[in-house]
Amino acid sequence: MSAKIAPSMLSSDFANLAAEAQRMLDCGADWLHMDIMDGHFVPNLTIGAPVIQSLRRHTSAYLDCHLMVTNPLDYVEPLAKAGASGFTFHIEASRDNWDRVSKKVKESGMRVGVCLKPGTPVEEVFPLVDSGDVDLVLIMTVEPGFGGQKFIPETMSKVKALRSRYPSLDIEVDGGLGPSTIQQAADAGANCIVAGSSVFGAPDPAAVISLMRNSVQTAQAAH
Ligand code: DX5
Ligand code: ZN
Repeated sequence: MSAKIAPSMLSSDFANLAAEAQRMLDCGADWLHMDIMDGHFVPNLTIGAPVIQSLRRHTSAYLDCHLMVTNPLDYVEPLAKAGASGFTFHIEASRDNWDRVSKKVKESGMRVGVCLKPGTPVEEVFPLVDSGDVDLVLIMTVEPGFGGQKFIPETMSKVKALRSRYPSLDIEVDGGLGPSTIQQAADAGANCIVAGSSVFGAPDPAAVISLMRNSVQTAQAAH
């Protein structure tokens, strides 16, 4: 599994989204992380399918959509039509229908991701990954809802457990990642790194992106 660095567009200037997306790609971003929040699953409201559709007209980049919504099933069709590339939904919002959600996401041509909040035990995701329908697991390293929060190091035990059980799974981390925390995530086995404030707030975002990619690649080579 290759290293994917995904700047979180939540930290971008939403009024200039296409230009901000291009700026990140020019800085070496592999994916663009799109935080979709419904103001209900999390206490914040951001963007939905119409904005993904608008952005898609300006870029062919991989749009890594993170659904912080109460009813992920309702978002599958609109987001697929809008041009989303990956659809990562929270297990806490889909305990009753995760198999339907993941099948529908797959059938719609998007990559299937499942996400766990910091307090959710990693074992909860094993049946989903074992079902064979999951391409990526996202371990939240902060409580979902807002950018700029502090990385929770205790979440690394979940990344380690996943990596030892699934050597070639895409494992993503999201929240508080930057030059001071990337080493922990890389050593634990994460290969997809979401970073908002540390990239957009840096004087040289390209340097931060390349530092994080190097950390992941170095940790992989050491294992
Ligand atoms: C938080 C979002 C993150 C957020 C990360 O709920 O899922 O993607 O933008 O921002 P930073 O990197 O600033 O913690
Ligand atoms: Zn996110």
